[in-house]
Amino acid sequence: MFFQWQDHHPVTLICIDKYYETNDAVSIKLADLSESLLFEFKAGQFITLGVDIDGKTEFRAYSLCSQSGDDHLQLTIKRVEGGKVSNFILDKLMVGDTLQVLPPKGDFNCIDHPPCVHQGQKKALLISAGCGITPVMAMAKQWLNSDELVDIEFLHIARSQQETIYFDLIETYHAAYDHFHLRLLLKNREATDYPEGRLNAVWLQQLVPDFKQRTIYLCGPNQFMQDVRRYFTDLDFDMRHFFQESFTPTQQTQQEVSSEQVMVQVPDLATSIEANKGDLLADVLENAGLPLIVACRSGICGSCKCKVSQGAVTSTSQETLTEQELEQGYVLACSSSLESDVKVQLG
Ligand code: FES
Repeated sequence: MFFQWQDHHPVTLICIDKYYETNDAVSIKLADLSESLLFEFKAGQFITLGVDIDGKTEFRAYSLCSQSGDDHLQLTIKRVEGGKVSNFILDKLMVGDTLQVLPPKGDFNCIDHPPCVHQGQKKALLISAGCGITPVMAMAKQWLNSDELVDIEFLHIARSQQETIYFDLIETYHAAYDHFHLRLLLKNREATDYPEGRLNAVWLQQLVPDFKQRTIYLCGPNQFMQDVRRYFTDLDFDMRHFFQESFTPTQQTQQEVSSEQVMVQVPDLATSIEANKGDLLADVLENAGLPLIVACRSGICGSCKCKVSQGAVTSTSQETLTEQELEQGYVLACSSSLESDVKVQLG
């Protein structure tokens, strides 16, 4: 039987396993409280975790690396300097603890964007760096464990073999499957057989010469993704077959803040907040202590969705919002700057 999610409402799951993948990344496995239900999602999607830290629930989005249909969800989380939630999970979360979880979401998945077919063969190129390996690993598992024969080039960039998340698993896949080709590029190759270098257009052509026949799925730090995207545009790749994702917050989501005062009203909670024109709606609502879930802060996860029933905001992202929601005035608070007095409904 499958687990039933509730849209926009966190459910409680229990941590049933936790182990280190590298010295600064752990995998955790989450199950329903009866530990008997199966979880469905589209490979490449993420979930949003809510963790109680110092009396406040902090939400963050993490990609799933398990397989749809498993009796648990698996996530791999890397330590981030100053990262409240990731460091809490690494240092304090224990097996048996519970977490709040919002349903799987995300357009970066291999079901909505399947690999293209070249001369009768489905072909994909998965490119990742660091913890960006998690969603592309879910895609590889999906294809390797289904009847769908997809030729997979798995290109991963890491500092060293020791710092490569899932190193043993990807080597095992490489040895076991003729259609799974591991291309590992290390900053420090030490005594391994893998090449050493920094990814650029020359390495791309050398490691995956037939890349133009493939659909590309990319995940990693922002700068890495911007660079890789540029290499492919410069190489005249057909960008209709290019998909990418990253949860690294961008710095461009906010307009210039002016000294002009505006009022944010939340009638359902009988609250009025003074703010400045240009302030991010999410900051204003959070600083006032209102129950807004802000997970990715990047306009990707949709957790901060709220309705602006009066007034104007400028939004830099509309990810996950449907046409109907947009018509009704829904916005992503983390990506919306205040333009005037507004009336807002949360959730
Ligand atoms: S917090 Fe993820 S879209 Fe706003």
